Amino acid sequence: MTAHHRFVPAPAGVGLRLPHLAEVVATRPAVGWFEIHPENFLAIPHARELLIALAGDYPISVHSVGVSIGSAGGIDRAHLKRVRDLINAVDPFLVSGHLAWSTHDGEYLNDLLPLPYDQETLRIVAAHVDEVQQGLGRQYLVENPSSYIGIATSTMNEVEFLSELVRRTGCKLLCDVSNVYLSGHNLGYDPHAYLDAMPADAIGELHLGGFLSEEDDANAGQQMLIDTHAQRIAEPAWDLYAYALRRFGPKPTLIEWDNDLPSVATLLAEAEHADAIAGAVFEPERHRAAG
Ligand SMILES: [Fe+2]
Repeated sequence: MTAHHRFVPAPAGVGLRLPHLAEVVATRPAVGWFEIHPENFLAIPHARELLIALAGDYPISVHSVGVSIGSAGGIDRAHLKRVRDLINAVDPFLVSGHLAWSTHDGEYLNDLLPLPYDQETLRIVAAHVDEVQQGLGRQYLVENPSSYIGIATSTMNEVEFLSELVRRTGCKLLCDVSNVYLSGHNLGYDPHAYLDAMPADAIGELHLGGFLSEEDDANAGQQMLIDTHAQRIAEPAWDLYAYALRRFGPKPTLIEWDNDLPSVATLLAEAEHADAIAGAVFEPERHRAAG
């Protein structure tokens, strides 16, 4: 791995998806780390071997899309065991997943569905996070979802819910800055206030992903932001990223791109841009500390 030429306290990583795997193995690009979805590698022994070899050269973060901490039906233990086996082989520096339903009656759903934020959900999700952390033998990072509708039966806001989850389980949080931005837009709250309220000590990782603006069918003339992970990160999300870094300090940051995959070079350029923003935020601080 080539050293970064400028001061970056926590260099950005990129998502490693199967179509890029052979190229990354062959070219070993200069990037801080890779994040993988274990579900991509479980059924493909050759991909798994390549990943384990890469893990000797790069820090790896494991981000599960199939461990369903929000599902009332409980954790799929067979799946958790398969993820644990991969984790034991890869030895990731971070292990994370979403706060949402992604299985229902044993079927995997493509969309991550929202949860009401109330005491009953908190009790179920906390029990599931305990089970996941025990089952994986690792601390788990829970990610804030992208939201399109508020749930009328919620009795607390998302940050209160996540903070209480941290307190009960000892988990950490993955703050998806793009999700904060787009949920704030869609639900009408201030994303800066959301970040201000987050428990900074619990933030272990940041995500940045592309989103799309679409006409809102339910509200003519209004735009809805859709979390597509299929394009470059938008300017207001970069601005919010700088705000998040000032609030939380240096954090490993992932460029998340899952659909309409671009070239590896495009992903690396996005990671470089994240590093440049982190450099601009933290370099003056470093000079002050040195001087
Ligand atoms: Fe994310």
